[in-house]
Amino acid sequence: TVIHLADYAPVPVTVTHVDLHLRLDPLATEVSARLTCRRQGPGVMVLNGEGLDMVSLAIDGVPLEASRYMLTDTTLTLHDVPDAFLLETVARIAPQENKALEGLYMSNGMYCTQCEAEGFRKITWMLDRPDVMATYDVEIEADLPVLLSNGDEVAPGKWHDPWPKPTYLFALVAGNLVATTDQFTTCEGRAVTLNIWVRPGDEGRTAYAMDALKRSMAWDETVYGRAYDLSVFNIVAVDDFNMGAMENKGLNIFNSKYVLASPDTATDTDFALIEGIVAHEYFHNWTGNRITCRDWFQLCLKEGLTVFRDQQFSADMRSAPVQRIGDVLQLRARQFREDAGPLAHPVRPESFVEINNFYTATVYEKGAEVIGMLRRLVGDAGYAAGCALYFERHDGQACTIEDWLACFEEATGRDLSQFKLWYSQAGTPLVSVTESYGDGTYRLTLRQTVPDTPGQTDKAPMVIPVAWGLLNTAGDEVRPTEVLELTEAETTLTFDLDARPVLSVLRGFSAPVRLEYQQSDTDRLTLLAHDTDPFNRWEAGRALSKDRLLRHITEDAPFDAAWLDALAAVALNDGLDPAFRALALALPSEDDLAQSLHDAGVVPDPTAIHAARKRAFAAVADRLATDLPRLMDDMATPGPYTPEASDAGKRALRAVVLRLLTTQDGGGAARATYDGADNMTDRMAAFTCLLEAGDPNVADQFEAQWSDDRLVMDKWFMARVAHAEPTRAVQIARDLTARPDFDANNPNRVRSVLGGLTAGNPAGFHNPDGSGYEFLAEWLLILDKSNPQTAARLSTAFDAWRRYDADRQALISAALTRLQGQPLSRDLSEMVGRILGSS
Ligand code: ARG
Ligand code: ZN
Repeated sequence: TVIHLADYAPVPVTVTHVDLHLRLDPLATEVSARLTCRRQGPGVMVLNGEGLDMVSLAIDGVPLEASRYMLTDTTLTLHDVPDAFLLETVARIAPQENKALEGLYMSNGMYCTQCEAEGFRKITWMLDRPDVMATYDVEIEADLPVLLSNGDEVAPGKWHDPWPKPTYLFALVAGNLVATTDQFTTCEGRAVTLNIWVRPGDEGRTAYAMDALKRSMAWDETVYGRAYDLSVFNIVAVDDFNMGAMENKGLNIFNSKYVLASPDTATDTDFALIEGIVAHEYFHNWTGNRITCRDWFQLCLKEGLTVFRDQQFSADMRSAPVQRIGDVLQLRARQFREDAGPLAHPVRPESFVEINNFYTATVYEKGAEVIGMLRRLVGDAGYAAGCALYFERHDGQACTIEDWLACFEEATGRDLSQFKLWYSQAGTPLVSVTESYGDGTYRLTLRQTVPDTPGQTDKAPMVIPVAWGLLNTAGDEVRPTEVLELTEAETTLTFDLDARPVLSVLRGFSAPVRLEYQQSDTDRLTLLAHDTDPFNRWEAGRALSKDRLLRHITEDAPFDAAWLDALAAVALNDGLDPAFRALALALPSEDDLAQSLHDAGVVPDPTAIHAARKRAFAAVADRLATDLPRLMDDMATPGPYTPEASDAGKRALRAVVLRLLTTQDGGGAARATYDGADNMTDRMAAFTCLLEAGDPNVADQFEAQWSDDRLVMDKWFMARVAHAEPTRAVQIARDLTARPDFDANNPNRVRSVLGGLTAGNPAGFHNPDGSGYEFLAEWLLILDKSNPQTAARLSTAFDAWRRYDADRQALISAALTRLQGQPLSRDLSEMVGRILGSS
């Protein structure tokens, strides 16, 4: 069944309070629910419930006769209900057998829940939809030391959540856990106990997450005026988790990968992700929990906004330009790819089969870009006023994108009707830039088109904020940043200038669009050396590198000195942030190059791309050869490891330099770094270099040292595949899945191997013999039986299939069609159908 946004209707009978009593048992948990119900329309109530055994059912204490209700696999329907009543049900479930990791399940002997989006119905019968908000009392009975739920603890194992919330924010945790505890006093004077609960043995890895939590709480008070609203904030780390983390009210549950960190086991990237995700989940307390979504079509209302907020936070905590470049790299790698293929959908989708398939880069990351554009269009003060109105007006409500935008229209007086197209029109707009200069006049023309996407053609022009500025050819800025609001299909600006300028356009990546702009090498070199906008400075270098790689692939063009000199100049410029230098030296990814070739009408060959990228890297290494050892030394970070951005930046540059050195010395420097590493960042950098250099011992050495550590071994599994020689990658991945420590029920481990191949080693995945496709399809079928969400997510690796040659297309579509012939979950069958273009 397809669900449509247009069909939204409020419930006729609602639930205002939920009283739960759970007697936990791995195979026979008893869930007693008492729902306070109130009629607000016709007297028919349809509750959701899936995989539940009914023990009893009563209204106002009277058992219900069979004629007054109807029970199916997914619903409980009650007829002729009174105006106000208490619905009592008792259900039996088996958390131990729940491998879908949705609802109540067990992970390493610990009970935990994941209810977003529609997992609550696997716990008990309820109106499992976000516009039904209720207060909760929860009592947990279990012979376990730690019993947690939402809200405040009123007695051991008894929790009261005074804030009305939808079912998807319900959570429960029970197990043998230990806490790291801290304290935070809000700006309103509320004393809050902060706990991070982990399995015994992991206590030494919680300090960074706790620090990030306190900084997030303070930041949300200062920047958005939002304070926390309970006396306790609990975070729990869980090993088996489908996603990154979950913002359950007062009880955030995290994939342990995004909480646990020590210098010895986590990389700088892990630390940065932990900081961002802790902030993200905490920020949901206002953008998501206090104000939630009316229906799942509005998912971007909470996710786009909360991603935007966590990106702002990370930019404030670290380097804003480096954060922006990283966010754009992610957006292009994941969201632009999604937008360019069969899975393209609007930021606010209009229909779905399985909502879990729409927790996408488009809803999250493009959704965040839309907020960023809104802020640019209404200005900082307008944005602050609109947010303030939103929090004041809608606190305690389940809202829509219309509610959100209305606050900004009222607060600023600006008409946002055209802006709203960003929520409904899918596809990455293409903005083409042309310019001319003559007789003292400079003309700049911008044209926009929005490409067709599945189910959408002939789109209207969007409002695109284009930040731009001008430099002169000597590199001085002659016109500082202005924002052009492109609202028509085409706009031309004309100025009087006494010399030809150098254009810096889409500064700060002011809109999620693709630029078509044949800027000259000279101008790009000027921008790379002098632009005042750090994003565009990086972007100029990236455009040069991409251009060189594409021409090398298509025309066998040699790597020219001008480009290599420009990269070397950035690499050696001590006036620049090392993190920025590392980003400038990194070459466009293989997938990025494949998409760019496709956009240019060339069929990409993953093997050729891989080889070209290696040669480009070797050319950069040759150019910098005499400087590399010195750079390694300059970027040393003496003293004990700290995850601070400044040290992380130096390590990032060192890692790039080490890769370059490895192309020259065959792994000598990497071996020395590996043996001497006192932190996981340096160790992983050296490890992956050594894998690529074919070091015969390093894989075993690493394994011998870390075999007892799940999170570290996930890195090992992934690196073994991602850094394998492409022709061997599929066999290595296959062999890894046969090991006893490959746990198909642990999504992190599964993603390490399958994602290590599909995302980490494109040339291996796209092996012309089709073995990569077969391997993925086999595993999708296996995983789909136990964990449909994870299977569906991994299937997106096939989404770019129409880019490739006829042979590869035939192999992929055959693999997908074979899958389609099998009994599949709703999740995976929707994905396979959409990828094939048959639904
Ligand atoms: N709301 C969570 C977050 O963004 C994501 C949970 C999604 N889970 C799911 N099963 N779809 O932090
Ligand atoms: Zn979120």
